[in-house]
Amino acid sequence: VVKVSSRPISTMATDKEIVGSVKEQLAKLFEESLRAAFPDIEDVHPMIAICNDSRHGDYQCNNAMSLWNKIKGQGTQFRGPQPVGKAIIDNLPASEMIERCSTAGPGFINVVLKKQWIAKSIERMLIDGIETWAPKLPVKRTVVDFSSPNIAKEMHVGHLRSTIIGDTLARMLEFSNVEVLRRNHVGDWGTQFGMLIEYLFDKIPNWEAASAQAIGDLQAFYKASKQRFDNDPDFKERAQKAVVSLQGGEEKYRKAWTQICEVSREEFQRVYQRLGVHLEEKGESFYNPYIPKALDLLNNKGLIQESEGARVIFIEGKKIPLIVVKRDGGFNYASTDLTALWYRLNEEKADWMIYVTDVGQREHFEMVFAAAKLAGWLPQNENDFPKASHVGFGLVLGDDGKRFRTRSTEVVKLVDLLDEAKSRCKLALEERGKATEWTAEELEQTAEAVGYGAVKYADLKNNRLTNYTFNFDQMLSDKGNTAVYLLYAHARICSIIRKSGRDIEELKKVGGIVLAHPDERALGLHLLQFAEIVEEACINLLPNLLCEYLYKLSEDFTKFYTNCQVVGSAEETRRLLLCEATAVVMRKCFYLLGITPVYKI
Ligand code: ARG
Repeated sequence: VVKVSSRPISTMATDKEIVGSVKEQLAKLFEESLRAAFPDIEDVHPMIAICNDSRHGDYQCNNAMSLWNKIKGQGTQFRGPQPVGKAIIDNLPASEMIERCSTAGPGFINVVLKKQWIAKSIERMLIDGIETWAPKLPVKRTVVDFSSPNIAKEMHVGHLRSTIIGDTLARMLEFSNVEVLRRNHVGDWGTQFGMLIEYLFDKIPNWEAASAQAIGDLQAFYKASKQRFDNDPDFKERAQKAVVSLQGGEEKYRKAWTQICEVSREEFQRVYQRLGVHLEEKGESFYNPYIPKALDLLNNKGLIQESEGARVIFIEGKKIPLIVVKRDGGFNYASTDLTALWYRLNEEKADWMIYVTDVGQREHFEMVFAAAKLAGWLPQNENDFPKASHVGFGLVLGDDGKRFRTRSTEVVKLVDLLDEAKSRCKLALEERGKATEWTAEELEQTAEAVGYGAVKYADLKNNRLTNYTFNFDQMLSDKGNTAVYLLYAHARICSIIRKSGRDIEELKKVGGIVLAHPDERALGLHLLQFAEIVEEACINLLPNLLCEYLYKLSEDFTKFYTNCQVVGSAEETRRLLLCEATAVVMRKCFYLLGITPVYKI
């Protein structure tokens, strides 16, 4: 595989100064001007946004109206929001950044950026690295709780969504220089282990000496033990006793539990490896020793009450209270999550806890977060940090509009999906003669990158809250908003640069980007907006915003490439640099989406 850029894509923070987003840089200028124009008014923060209509400008500052509302009736010399806007403009410090400003409507200020400034920013990024375009976020350390499958149960498409969405959020935060604790909150505890352990004792008498693999297919094992549990009262009783022994920490039961977990763990790991996702497991059992302490804290605040034999926390506006100790004295999913939240805040010192699960668990998290607020663990105001956020997502549907299943009506196995995506891609590449043109390894790697990338992108491009239909034909199409189209677009740019025969590293040193043509300028501006899109996607926890950005980038590039001749033109050098910058930003987008780029097609 030929790499066009010599700069490896790394997750390492840069030693170069981070310039921040355009919005941030504009905000600095407007902050100065607001202070100069209205020295008596405190607490005005510049409100900068991208212009809705690019004919009016690139950005807008929206402070004039609210300022006017503050000062009118106080004997001000100003006669309305427009003059207020004018005063803001007049007090802007001189800068390389702004070409011109104008007031519009009821107090908007439209800002047009200097194209020389845009060009310089891109040139600098090409030399200093795209890490210098990382957004600055108001957090230091976050926990992203994602994937989190359950032991002995199949990892299904729902877990695929959690894994893909969580990984992207973690990557975007990491890129923004936030420390991320990638937590796999595996369901490794609960009463089902009683029956699994007893079944293990019955089925494999020498289980201690046998390897974990002796258990074989853990789902089948689970099913069989469940059936036994439901039909054999004697077994049921033993299973219930086993739960007590396990919770009491009895050696033999502990060992059996570990062995069962190990089988699942290896299976999960195989999926993560394929997806290129890395997680650190702190399963439900990890929090067990801390539960009494966390519940004590809640109890001391007077939050825990007796209700129908259980211990519960009543939450305003919720019909059913949050049960934290069951009637039999056992702990549950909520006790563990409350404790995990406490642990993450106090032991791990995280300032943002992010939970990625299907929307079905929204209520659960609302209750847990509300209880933490009542306890004073989290601030009252939703927008203040430390903060806890539930990232819910919808269902994956089949072509029939029902929950996605295979013909056997079993839930779809993750690995099968990935296998099929890859083999379909391989076939498509072979049909285009790549089997003879490329080495077997290249064929394999490309099929994998495109296949897995397609599955991920098809998921991420949707607003996560909406259900989406899983359709191989659609996601593997090379037209439209698909990973295949985008990966090919990137490869095509790389091929333009290769075919020019020019040394791109040398060109970078020379620089000289000029954004004379409107399509050059539009592309340049869109490139520059990368940082604020990543910021918005992080703050709102919406990876689809990055997908939209990436798709628009490829469209802007196509327009540019159609209307501006690159190779062989008098503008070749500067336009090749624009090609390279586009490829660099595209690759970073792919990286953040967990997609491996390809360099030739
Ligand atoms: N194991 C759970 C499930 O499969 C998801 C756990 C999510 N994380 C959490 N802290 N509750 O539904």
